[in-house]
Amino acid sequence: MKKLVLLAGLVALPALAADAPFELKGDAAKGEAHYKTLCISCHGEKGDGNGPAGAALTPKPGNFTDPANAERITEEWVYKMVKLGGQANGKSPMMVAWSGALNDQQIRDVAAFVMKFKPAKAAPAAPAKAAKKPAKK
Ligand code: HEC
Repeated sequence: MKKLVLLAGLVALPALAADAPFELKGDAAKGEAHYKTLCISCHGEKGDGNGPAGAALTPKPGNFTDPANAERITEEWVYKMVKLGGQANGKSPMMVAWSGALNDQQIRDVAAFVMKFKPAKAAPAAPAKAAKKPAKK
């Protein structure tokens, strides 16, 4: 019997491994409504951080649309910021944790909606060194 329990534990382990790829599994269409009621005042209609309540904040709410932020704004980061808030992630406490207002799936949904603000193409992250062009004369 003990062996069985142990086995079950081992089977479950990979799912808990820290390096298991994060999967958001959010529904942006559902998340939009939450964004509009809870986030828009600071993060703005366009997701650029220029909502009426965001303008007065220092630091300002993140700009989801800026290609310069694209590398940082990953599904996992957005999920963590929404769920745990800024303070828990070494950021401004003005970004509160939403785990009280939203359940886990709703957090995933709103995060999926946030991801939609990202520009289609990320800013070239430190242009590939191999493709270095000769300096223009
Ligand atoms: C009271 C204003 C306010 C509200 C409302 C708010 N946020 Fe924020 N949010 C902030 C601020 C300020 C920051 C920037 C924190 C920092 O950079 O230190 C932030 C940062 C973030 C970030 C990280 C951005 C980055 O550049 O890394 C995400 C993602 C985010 N908020 C999502 C949301 C979502 C989703 C909601 C709604 C559920 C929401 N926020 C509601 C103020 C707010």
